[in-house]
Amino acid sequence: MLVVDIINKKRLGKELSYKELDFAFNGYLEGKVKDYQMSALLMAICINGMEDEEIYALTKIFIDSGDILDFGDEFGILVDKHSTGGIGDKTTLVIGPIVASCGVPVVKMSGRGLGYTGGTIDKLESIPGFKVNLTDEKILRQLRKIGLVSSAQTANLTPLDKVIYALRDVTGTVSSIPLIASSIMSKKIAAGADKILIDIKVGKGALLKTKEEAKKLSELMIKIGGFYQREVRCVISDMNTPLGYAVGNALEVLEAIDVLKGKEYGNPFVDLCIDLSVDMISMGKGVSKQDAKLMVLESLNKGRAYQKFLELVREQGGDLTKMEVSSKKQKIKAEKSGVIKKIDALEVGMLSVKLGAGRIDKEDKIDHGVGVRLHKLVGETVEKGEVIATLYVKEKVDSSLYEKIFVIE
Ligand code: URA
Repeated sequence: MLVVDIINKKRLGKELSYKELDFAFNGYLEGKVKDYQMSALLMAICINGMEDEEIYALTKIFIDSGDILDFGDEFGILVDKHSTGGIGDKTTLVIGPIVASCGVPVVKMSGRGLGYTGGTIDKLESIPGFKVNLTDEKILRQLRKIGLVSSAQTANLTPLDKVIYALRDVTGTVSSIPLIASSIMSKKIAAGADKILIDIKVGKGALLKTKEEAKKLSELMIKIGGFYQREVRCVISDMNTPLGYAVGNALEVLEAIDVLKGKEYGNPFVDLCIDLSVDMISMGKGVSKQDAKLMVLESLNKGRAYQKFLELVREQGGDLTKMEVSSKKQKIKAEKSGVIKKIDALEVGMLSVKLGAGRIDKEDKIDHGVGVRLHKLVGETVEKGEVIATLYVKEKVDSSLYEKIFVIE
């Protein structure tokens, strides 16, 4: 078999067999297929798509490239949640404690941020002392003790996805729906999830720009789930506007704490956290969404979700009293009076990376204390000169970096 024949076949829009996909993709992992050959194949897939059988085969090839976790029956049904990535997306910090406090165990393996989308692990590391690299034994012990674990990936899960994703990132092949679906589903299945909830972000600050693409991805992931006997639910949520008020690692943890303490409610971020928690609980416990919602609201109102978050922080060595945000602040004021029509997620994301909250290259060091705190959300009225956002900075930045964020009419 020659990889060039496989590339040509896909270039002509033909279906590849399991053997051909295995030869090309595992060949790449082993270093026999070169970057330029895999880049050409990925681009051909991006342009010509894949049939369902090819997508199931690729998902299997990703899963089988590494370890597969199995928590057995001890914890009942494990529900995992995945977001396709967004700006200010700190939902995991809120829904993990809510869901665990309602008796559904949660082992959440998360990643770091790259580019303008943040990562849960970076956010948790803004809590001094919080350990994210847990051993398998510690994960099991903690799961038994408090029913909630938030860890960086431990085992050697889907190593093939890791190298392919890094190549896609630099070859313009990230937004292929078959490639996104097999990448996400392989990770969730390899991590031992029985049921999977996917939050598909759509909009300017997301991987997918249209609802049609998001719907296609949703249908595809549900099909892959069916093939692997996993229940999959998808929620399509907006990413034209940042989620909530804070973008930046420590700032986002502080906002998550406010939500868990019941200080924030009735904004799109809190509503999304409630909706996702309801789905996870109804999937985990097999109860109706109405019953699950009552459980979520009771957990928040009685402070149980917040207590669960404190248990998580304590168990993983964190000290919330030592959390810091940058003491240097810069205010953004409204240029005119009116209603906020738009807060551009992508502009906020790019600004937060420039402030030092995100990485451009994987090796970049981030500053946990910097970021953006919005004071107003879309639809709110402002007066000219009113402070509408505060930047937490290392040093003052030029207004050209934020002048396109707000549209006031
Ligand atoms: N998230 C992933 O894990 N994989 C993709 O391909 C896209 C988003």
